[in-house]
Amino acid sequence: NEIKIFSPATVANVACGFDVLGFCLDNVGDDMVIRKVDKKGIKITHIEGFDLPYEAEQNVAGVSALAMYNALDIDFGFEIEIYKNIKPGSGIGSSAASAVGSVFGMNELLGRPFNKTQLTEFAIKGEALASKCEHADNLAPAMFGGFTLVKGIKPLQILEIPSPDDLFATIIHPQIEIKTSESRAVLPKEVSLSDAIAQWSNVGSLIHALHTSDYDLIKDSLHDVIIEPHRSKLIPHYQEVKNSMLNAGALGACISGSGPSIFSLCKGEETAKKVAEAIKNVYNSTGIDFDIHVSKIN
Ligand code: HSE
Repeated sequence: NEIKIFSPATVANVACGFDVLGFCLDNVGDDMVIRKVDKKGIKITHIEGFDLPYEAEQNVAGVSALAMYNALDIDFGFEIEIYKNIKPGSGIGSSAASAVGSVFGMNELLGRPFNKTQLTEFAIKGEALASKCEHADNLAPAMFGGFTLVKGIKPLQILEIPSPDDLFATIIHPQIEIKTSESRAVLPKEVSLSDAIAQWSNVGSLIHALHTSDYDLIKDSLHDVIIEPHRSKLIPHYQEVKNSMLNAGALGACISGSGPSIFSLCKGEETAKKVAEAIKNVYNSTGIDFDIHVSKIN
């Protein structure tokens, strides 16, 4: 009647794939407990880690749980405990982890009446509470694992993309908060044709590179000519961190989701750890607190 789950952090956009690409980290995430109870409805009974609302309608995990609950015809309810490790506004899918965790856990307790795409549909409602818009590029990798591409939202279509075994991510999370809604507000409504061409060429080649484990092509494809120029201004020491990642051997580096986290992709754990050391050296002198994660893409 109770399930404990780990709901992973994710990196959305992956440089060129704004709102469509994402990948899942295997060692950073939230813990949640979902419990089936006699009393009808959804109740959040415990939150640890960060100060978040207990009212289900105001809480990302609660909203996605309610979306699923309302699609069911059952005479019992669920309690949710949230042990949050991913700081809200960090750029590594904090809201997506909460939104996915509640519906995933409920589905398990119910004997899996819904598939993962249907669960992601419910989770979109929770994500929308946090970011004020419906997008699934953090939800999809949190739900499916690995690399994903959100082919479309209406109807929701998620593609699972294979990735090379030796692909690691190094992520720095400066302890400042950037709200997704705010970092979406700085983006242009229109883009030039030449920028669009560069961007879709990189998305296409990145997908091909992931399918063929072509690390050189991954390196060649991890560029963002549309979003990064606008958002990087919001992130302290962005260019310095990015340069240090590339100099330490990363295949590419860019803003993680809507920031302020910055991610790099690396071939092999050893390089990923070297990249971690390099960014530590940059950030140690800034006076801004930070976390660094080295994770396999899983
Ligand atoms: N694709 C989203 C964005 C991810 O960059 O705004 C952040 O939730």
